Amino acid sequence: NSKERNIGKLIQDRLPAEIRDLLHLAGQLGRKLGLPVYAVGGFVRDLLLDRPNQDIDLVVEGNGIALAKALAEELRGRVREHQKFLTSVVIFHDAKGAESRIDVATARLEYYEYPAALPTVELSSIKMDLFRRDFTINALAVRLDSTPFGQLVDFFGGQRDVKERVIRVLHTLSFVEDPTRCLRAVRFEQRYKFRIGAGAEKLIKNALSLKLMDRLSGPRLFSEYQHICDEADPPACFFRLDELGILRAISPHLALTPNRRDLLCRLREMLTWYRLLYFDEPAQAWLLYFLGLNLNLNYAETSAHFHRLGLPEVKKTEILGQREQMRAVRGKLETWQRQDDVGRTKVSVLCDLLRSISLECLLYIMASTDNPGLQKNLSRYITQWRREKADICGADLRRLGLAPGPLYGRILKAALEAKLDGEAPNAQSQLRLARKMLEGVPESGGKSCDRPMRK
Ligand code: CTP
Repeated sequence: NSKERNIGKLIQDRLPAEIRDLLHLAGQLGRKLGLPVYAVGGFVRDLLLDRPNQDIDLVVEGNGIALAKALAEELRGRVREHQKFLTSVVIFHDAKGAESRIDVATARLEYYEYPAALPTVELSSIKMDLFRRDFTINALAVRLDSTPFGQLVDFFGGQRDVKERVIRVLHTLSFVEDPTRCLRAVRFEQRYKFRIGAGAEKLIKNALSLKLMDRLSGPRLFSEYQHICDEADPPACFFRLDELGILRAISPHLALTPNRRDLLCRLREMLTWYRLLYFDEPAQAWLLYFLGLNLNLNYAETSAHFHRLGLPEVKKTEILGQREQMRAVRGKLETWQRQDDVGRTKVSVLCDLLRSISLECLLYIMASTDNPGLQKNLSRYITQWRREKADICGADLRRLGLAPGPLYGRILKAALEAKLDGEAPNAQSQLRLARKMLEGVPESGGKSCDRPMRK
């Protein structure tokens, strides 16, 4: 009783040729091996929604590993198999040479055990595989080995729910089976601007009152938290998690105050700004939002959140150390800015203050300050000053007759500072500065490496 429809034309029209070819290839191999093969899950959902998704998940009724091996051979790739679960990953290089992967799972009827509360029905193995999934919109499949190619398999109303833009579960125990689905529901809802259906919302509330979030392991929670931070609009997800009581279920300290809400939005703007700069130093979104969510919480409270996310102790110490450093420098930054406003300080002084502040903390300070002058200077620091180097190097100093040693570092630092402050903007003026610094240094007797060499 699946609502069948052929979506071969959608596949033809909406997918890039390379993905299309992969789907056809999997279908051909399925036919050859006599194995029904389906593309399933998020890939199909996004195909209906016309959103790009390169993550092909295949499910095979029968021997999934055999199909994966055949696929790998055709794609000149390799297979990593998990015999125990009969799942595998085909790893290969795409047309551009980038590493790509396709998950291939096996659907087997005898594999699943269901709680007694669920009706026992005879299900085909693909139906059973789809029934295990979180939401109806994720429980769609396209059959690839059939003729005509591209039969959509929809046992649970996924097409209707895509059309009605609603997140529904397949059965009442969905959140009990896997409480991360409470977070996933919000993530999909916000990503697609869907609505969590009334039934699903009730079941989420029920899961919260049963304290099921407490059963989630740190790493699973962290992984879901990271997925949220990688969405286009993480604050929207956090607001909704707050509204549904999910944040409070994770920790009572996480409830969103107006200040936290405002900060989360500012952090989103800041990340968007930073990402547009295309620097090859990526900012860790999860960390930035973590700092935002922990606004006004003390060391012990924030530390507890680290534990809840299952993060290692060293990571916690490192990040909380960075936060303490950031807190310590904030007052000094305001003072520096006041002096800068009246032309009584230097860029190099600001750079000195910020040198050991991590990128995420820099973005955090910039997002949370209301001082436009400081904001502008922080943005110049992030985009320009922190990347600046002196225009002279060790080789130049050696040519001046200076033997390698600690003085090198001091001179190069002074050259950089003079450059930042506009006092020595180029190599020539920095060399002049170096010579001047060397004037006071006694000539080398040969041994110490901190003095000029005899010319
Ligand atoms: N799934 C599930 N319950 C979970 C996690 C995953 O039922 N807790 C199922 C869903 O059917 C989902 C599929 O496994 O479609 C693949 O999971 P994942 O890759 O996490 O999700 P996608 O739907 O591909 O989502 P995204 O677009 O975020 O990658």
